[in-house]
Amino acid sequence: MQSFRIAVLKGDGIGPEIVDATLRVLGKVEELFNVKFEYKEGLIGGIAIDETGTPLPDETLELCRDSDAVLLGAVGGPKWDNLPTDKRPERGLLKIRKELDLYANLRPAKVWEPLIDASPLKPEVVRGTDMLVVRELTGDVYYGEPRGIFEEGGKRVGVNTMRYTEDEIRRVVIKSFEIARKRRKKLTSVDKSNVLEVSGLWKQVVEEVSKDYPDVELEHLYVDNCAMQLVRRPSSFDVIVTGNIFGDILSDEAGVVVGSLGMLPSASVGDKHALYEPVHGSAPDIAGKGVANPIATILSAAMMLKYSFGMDKASDLVEKAVEETLNQGYRTPDIYSQGYNRVGTQEITDKIIENMERYK
Ligand code: NAI
Ligand code: MG
Repeated sequence: MQSFRIAVLKGDGIGPEIVDATLRVLGKVEELFNVKFEYKEGLIGGIAIDETGTPLPDETLELCRDSDAVLLGAVGGPKWDNLPTDKRPERGLLKIRKELDLYANLRPAKVWEPLIDASPLKPEVVRGTDMLVVRELTGDVYYGEPRGIFEEGGKRVGVNTMRYTEDEIRRVVIKSFEIARKRRKKLTSVDKSNVLEVSGLWKQVVEEVSKDYPDVELEHLYVDNCAMQLVRRPSSFDVIVTGNIFGDILSDEAGVVVGSLGMLPSASVGDKHALYEPVHGSAPDIAGKGVANPIATILSAAMMLKYSFGMDKASDLVEKAVEETLNQGYRTPDIYSQGYNRVGTQEITDKIIENMERYK
């Protein structure tokens, strides 16, 4: 029997509730697909600060390095809001991404037909939207030198540097072509090469890599145009790849196009490691009440099955079970509207598991 080691970092707020729900779904995957998952829990975020004084203890990092994948809930909360920036729970997230060299952030944004009204766009515009934004995570203007606020002739000047090496571009572009191959075989590369030299290099490298992927249709868009097309024709996109800062903005835009925060999964992947987590935060306002929507985390685990374990069928089954559960009218409060069946974290998870059994 195949077996995989998963580092489980529940974190703060609703983190433990939504991760526990997701582990039940993975338990069903074990049963249906003859596979074994070995879980080891580690501390991250506020709870790690409370117990060890640091948001990412070395033992947690070791545990993650030693695992086939990492499943994370969320971190942070009002209890830790007054700590200095470099001691806060969120620091744990930045550090883990850096230490594991997770250079590609994958953010799928899919419209679920039963939730089509959650989109701020017209149903006829968003219907069928199912895209994935790949954001480069380790380079760009966030890290480039020189940076700072300097004095020049008695005036202050603020400086950041947009910088990419060809190797940094190539690895994320290859990853994106590989992902597009597993999906609808279309890749949109987004840059600003009409103005920026770094974008010119980006585009050249994309063209070079594309020669190895003749089966994937390639499109180039300028970032400003892409921002418009995301709301005009969201369903025309499959995989979008772009740099760190453009990806930061476009992935949030893509998320809002499809609607609910409680439904958005993500992955951060590198060559050796991968981490899966919901896009939303620790939702301290509803923590401990049993009403958190576990679907974003469950769909993150579905991504883990596909991208880390090559279990495409199991991944598709989890997605299908989520969709059927919505079709049957079950809604956690964050996605509830009148006339539907309002349920909590446990019940919606029960229904998803039942539907996995039914559609296997
Ligand atoms: P948030 O995403 O935690 O919550 C925003 C709103 O959405 C809240 O009203 C919350 O109840 C609701 N919500 C979020 N996820 C939900 C779910 N699964 N089910 C039902 N409702 C849900 O963002 P907020 O309030 O800005 O941040 C709260 C804490 O989370 C802060 O400490 C923040 O720093 C942290 N945070 C952590 C992230 C992470 O761990 N990756 C990401 C974003 C924020
Ligand atoms: Mg952002």
